[in-house]
Amino acid sequence: MELPPRPALFDFNGVSMTRYFTDNWENVQNFKARPDDIVIATYPKAGTTWVSYILDLLYFGQTCPERQASIPLQKRVPFLDISLPSLPTGKDLADQLPTTPRLIKTHLPVQFLPKSFWEQNSRIIYVGRNAKDNAVSYFHFYRMNSAVPEPGEWSTFLRSFMDGKVVYGSWYDHVNGWWEKKQTYSKLHYMFYEDLIEDCGREIDQLCSFLGLSPSVEEKERIKTAVKFDNMKQNQMISFTTVKYMNQTVSPFLRRGKVGDWKDHFTVAQNEEFDEDYKEKMKNPTLKFRTEM
Ligand code: A3P
Repeated sequence: MELPPRPALFDFNGVSMTRYFTDNWENVQNFKARPDDIVIATYPKAGTTWVSYILDLLYFGQTCPERQASIPLQKRVPFLDISLPSLPTGKDLADQLPTTPRLIKTHLPVQFLPKSFWEQNSRIIYVGRNAKDNAVSYFHFYRMNSAVPEPGEWSTFLRSFMDGKVVYGSWYDHVNGWWEKKQTYSKLHYMFYEDLIEDCGREIDQLCSFLGLSPSVEEKERIKTAVKFDNMKQNQMISFTTVKYMNQTVSPFLRRGKVGDWKDHFTVAQNEEFDEDYKEKMKNPTLKFRTEM
């Protein structure tokens, strides 16, 4: 398949986007949610795939084991917002999901989530990741993914990230917007990538308690093993190897999977400037991210 040229970034109602995430806007906004839908919402590169896979295993690992070997994760957990040339839209894939619950991924900032999810009181799991590692991960993802603009050099990309001039806009607005929503919407579980790294089992327990699930000890152990970084990396059904837009020889989708990788990318000057800017933008003392562990 010949890939189209990389798309241009533009301002879309105050958020930087490319056409692949806005072309299907009306249909996405009119998506008909169900009360038992589960939304996985993240800023790109915060651990979406990790949590999607955990949820897929929690719900369907036992009941539909054949699904694990035959259907790539991106079809089991469709990406609602996306519409790429000559591929089914995420919205259509979500509509066609035969499962209950339906697991649906989105990177939309809180103000753009289709309203039917709120009306149906669907459960939402938000995953946040510290800004520095998130920026680094996003940079490498930009390099390998022709569905987003060229990243330029790391220093250029970092500046764009700080200015919110990357696909899905400002990281700062995204994590804060969803955090504020959590204060009024009780069916929102806000979790952190760093906590998953620290203790994946504890985070699975918390997810289960939010979702009202009670898997056996053995089942939880199986899930913990399956979702380890190295196991996910080797799993062809998880690592997006069939997605033509991603060139994994440039940078693999499952790249480092660490907290603190930013230290190998930020110069001392970049770090100081980033910290200053961060203080200005992140005024809510209750939302705290860990950049090292
Ligand atoms: P890195 O680029 O830092 O390695 P998303 O799924 O939201 O696109 O996020 C991708 C990031 O999550 C990548 O980060 C990827 O390696 C990391 N990731 C995915 N699964 C992981 C796991 N099981 N353990 C640790 N990190 C994981």
